[in-house]
Amino acid sequence: MRLSDDFISEVKYRNDLGELAASYMQLKRRGRNLVGLCPFHGEKTPSFNIYTENGSFYCFGCGAGGDVISFVMKIENLDYLEAVKFLAQRAGMSMPEDDYDDSMSRLRTRIYEANREAARFYYKKLGEREGAQGLAYLRGRGLADSTIRHFGLGFAPESRFALGDYLLGKGFTESELIAANLVFKSRSGRGVVDRFYNRVMFPIIDVRGNVIAFGGRIMTDQKPKYLNTSDTIVFNKSLNLFSLNNAKNSKSRAYILCEGYMDVIALNQAGFTEAVATLGTALTFDQATLLKRYCDEVIVCYDADEAGQKATARAIDILRRAGIVVRVLRIPDGKDPDEFIRRHGDKGHAAFKNLLESSGNDVDYRMQQLKSGFDMNSPQSKLGYLNEGVKLLAELDNPMERDIYASKLSDETDVAKPSIMEQVNRLVKRKSYNRSKDEFKQIQKNLSARDDRINPQHAANLRAATAEENLIAFLVNNTDKLGYIESKLKPEDFITDFNRKLYVYFCERIKNQKEPMTTVSADFTADEASQVYRIVTSYSNIRSTPQALDEYIGVILDEGTKMSESDIANASTGSLAEYLRKLAEQKK
Ligand code: GTP
Ligand code: MN
Repeated sequence: MRLSDDFISEVKYRNDLGELAASYMQLKRRGRNLVGLCPFHGEKTPSFNIYTENGSFYCFGCGAGGDVISFVMKIENLDYLEAVKFLAQRAGMSMPEDDYDDSMSRLRTRIYEANREAARFYYKKLGEREGAQGLAYLRGRGLADSTIRHFGLGFAPESRFALGDYLLGKGFTESELIAANLVFKSRSGRGVVDRFYNRVMFPIIDVRGNVIAFGGRIMTDQKPKYLNTSDTIVFNKSLNLFSLNNAKNSKSRAYILCEGYMDVIALNQAGFTEAVATLGTALTFDQATLLKRYCDEVIVCYDADEAGQKATARAIDILRRAGIVVRVLRIPDGKDPDEFIRRHGDKGHAAFKNLLESSGNDVDYRMQQLKSGFDMNSPQSKLGYLNEGVKLLAELDNPMERDIYASKLSDETDVAKPSIMEQVNRLVKRKSYNRSKDEFKQIQKNLSARDDRINPQHAANLRAATAEENLIAFLVNNTDKLGYIESKLKPEDFITDFNRKLYVYFCERIKNQKEPMTTVSADFTADEASQVYRIVTSYSNIRSTPQALDEYIGVILDEGTKMSESDIANASTGSLAEYLRKLAEQKK
C-alpha cells in the first residue's frame, strides 16, 4: 500500500529521532547534533550522528543512514510499513486502515496468528489424554503447573497431521502454515505434514509478545534432542533470545545468559526472571546488541563441560565488544543451571543466589582459566603464565582494570608490578595502533564495496560522481533552484546511472511540490536510502554558493564530453588491435 506523504510527514514530525534513539543507546550532544556508538555495528569510538535539524542519522563507520523510519526498521527489524505503524502507535496516531493490504505485512500477521493458535493448541493437548505423557515429562523435570502455564509449554501429539488439520480447519491456508514452518509439504505431494510431533513444546515469544517460533524436545534419548523452527520471515534464530520477554519485565539490569530452554525455565521458577538463552546456536553480535538495550551486565552461565567453556570464552568476547559488563558463573560439579537448581530443591533460589554473588568478572575468570594451564612451581612455566597474562591484560580497554589485574599478576608471580605494567603498556600501544588501522581499513573496504554495489560506476568516474552527488545535495537543500538547474542539466548528462535516478526522482518530487526527502526510506532499498542520506548529510553550507553550483554542473558536462572523446579513442584502438591481429594471422 501507499501511505500519503502527509501521513508520513506527520508520523515523522511526531516522533523525534533523537528522543527515540536515546531509548536504545547513549547519545551525547555535540553542537546541534547528537553522537553515540553506532547500534548497527561494533565500534569503540562514536561515529553515529543524528542531525537534529532534519531528523536524519548517518554512521560514518558502517554507512547506515536514514530518517526515523529507517532507524526503527533497522533497530526493531521491521519492514517499512511495520515501522510506520510502530511509530504511529507510539505517537498515538491511527493508521489509515482501508488501504492496508501490503502482502508481506499481511503474511507476517497471519504467521503470528497461526503461531499463537498453534501454541494454544499444544498447551491444550497437555491437559488431554493424548498429551498425558508430555505433562508427565514436564512435571517429572520439576516444573510446577503454574510455570508450565506461564511459559505456555505444550505437547505436539504423535499424529503427523494433528496441528495442520486443526489450523486448516481454522481457516489458515497451507502456504501460510508452510511459511510459518509449522508444517511442510508431504512427500507424496498431497497435503501437509506437521513439523513437530511427539515432542514437548516451548514457544519462543519476542519482546512485543508475538509467538515467533517453537522449540520441541523429544522425551527420550533419541536425536535430535531439540528441534527448532527454521528461520521464517518472522523469526531469525540469531536475532532473538528465549525468554527476553520475561527478562524485560524483571527489575534487573544484570541478565543471566544460559544455554538451554530448561535452564531458563528452572531459573524463572526459582525466582530469576532475568534469565535468557540463545536458541541452540552460539551467541551472535546481534544478540549482544539486543541484550545491551535491556541490560548493562550479563552473567554467563553456560554448562560446565568443555564445549560450554569454549562457548563462554567466545561469549565474553562478543558481549564485551557490545559494551556489556560481563561476569562468569561457574556451576560446581559439572552441571547446568537446571540440574543445579533441582538438586537443591526448596533451597534452589538461595543456592543459586550464592553462586551469582560469588561469580567473578570475566577477567578473573580468564586469568583463572589461564593459570590452571601452568605449573606455578616451575619458573619456566610461571614465565609462560606471566607472558600470557600480560597479553590478556593488554586486551582490556579500561586502564584501571589493567592496573588492578597487574597487581594481581604481580602477587601471583612475585614479579614487580612496574615491569609488568611496562610490558602491558607496550602491547597496548601496538594493539591500539594496529586495531585502529585494521578497523579503518575494514570500514573503508565495506563502505566502498557498498558504494560499488549501489553505484557500480562510482569508482571509475570519481570526479563526475562526486560532482553529481554535490549537485543532488544542493538541489535537495535549495529546491527553489530547480528551474535553473534543469535549464542547464538534463538527466542524460549524468554519467552514473544511480545518481541519474536520484536526480530524476528529486526533480519529480520538487516539481510536484513535495518535500524531497519524506519518502526516501519507502521508495528505495535500505542500502540505497543510506546512500541518499550520506549524499545529503555530508553536504556543507560552504558548498552551497551559486558559484559552487555552476562548478558542479560544469564538471558533469565536462566529464561527459571527455567520456565521449575517450569512447572514440577506445573504439579506434579497438579496431587497430583488430587489424594487427588479422595481420598476424595472415603471416602464419
Ligand atoms: P535438557 O537435556 O532438556 O536439559 O536440555 P538442555 O537445556 O540441558 O540442553 P543442552 O545443554 O543439551 O542444549 C542447550 C540448547 O541447545 C537447547 O536448549 C537447545 O536450544 C539446543 N539444542 C540442544 N540439542 C539440540 C539439537 O539436537 N538440535 C538443535 N537444533 N538444538 C539443540
Ligand atoms: Mn539440561
